[in-house]
Amino acid sequence: MKAVILAGGTGTRLKPLTFWTNKHLLPVGAYPMICYGVTRLREAGIREIVIVTGRDAIGGFSDVLGSGRDWGVSIVYRVQEEAGGIAQALELARPVIGPGEKIAVLLGDNLFEKPLTPYIQAFERQREGAMVLLYPVDDPRRYGVPRFGEDGSRIVRIEEKPEHPPSNFSVTGLYFYHPDVFDIIERVKPSERGEMEITDVNNAYAAVQRLEHLTVSGWWTDAGTFESLEEAGRRLKGTLP
Ligand code: DAU
Repeated sequence: MKAVILAGGTGTRLKPLTFWTNKHLLPVGAYPMICYGVTRLREAGIREIVIVTGRDAIGGFSDVLGSGRDWGVSIVYRVQEEAGGIAQALELARPVIGPGEKIAVLLGDNLFEKPLTPYIQAFERQREGAMVLLYPVDDPRRYGVPRFGEDGSRIVRIEEKPEHPPSNFSVTGLYFYHPDVFDIIERVKPSERGEMEITDVNNAYAAVQRLEHLTVSGWWTDAGTFESLEEAGRRLKGTLP
């Protein structure tokens, strides 16, 4: 399985810090944020990583990670010219993913306390569709939120930043897909905020009962706000896997 780390976007919630650098290059403990995702994936056996980021930032990623050699992985970079959404960023990885190859997609600001190995192994066994990871949160309105079917076992729909959340879970930014994801992205239309939403992609799988889920064990955060960035620094301190 290859992995794609999405590390573009505008980092709006972290301005003014993100006036001068890309969010994923900001320090979390002793390392730039991007290093935690790379090392967690490597620890789980992933050796080939595609990093998608904006044109202004690409030099910074190359300074930190280079070819990936010193980090035990091989890295290919793709440039997203404008922040047109997570699904648009993912589409840029298409030429690098081999036919029939499954992918793990990580949002670069998502940080996990524990290894990703169990989720990657679970998706290795999954024969079709997609898988998302859930985490219980106090403030679901910040996230994609799953709505479960009547027996509570299956996600029937994900609502993006809902005013009235259908559950108390966040859909975290670690997604797993079979290669049909790229055909689904082709059919996704930009949302009201003008972005191609990953939630629309996941809902295409949910609509045909092909969206599986697991719950994250250990602590998780999306370090996209000052509060969560500070918390991540305190918790991770600079210890890489
Ligand atoms: O962190 C989990 C949440 O991430 C999910 O619960 C939401 O469903 C999902 O939409 C996403 O929400 P955010 O509001 O946190 O997304 P954000 O715009 O902050 O982008 C998340 C990551 O994706 C960030 O690390 C940068 C990358 N990205 C984003 C955009 C819009 C790109 O690489 N390109 C883009 O165009």
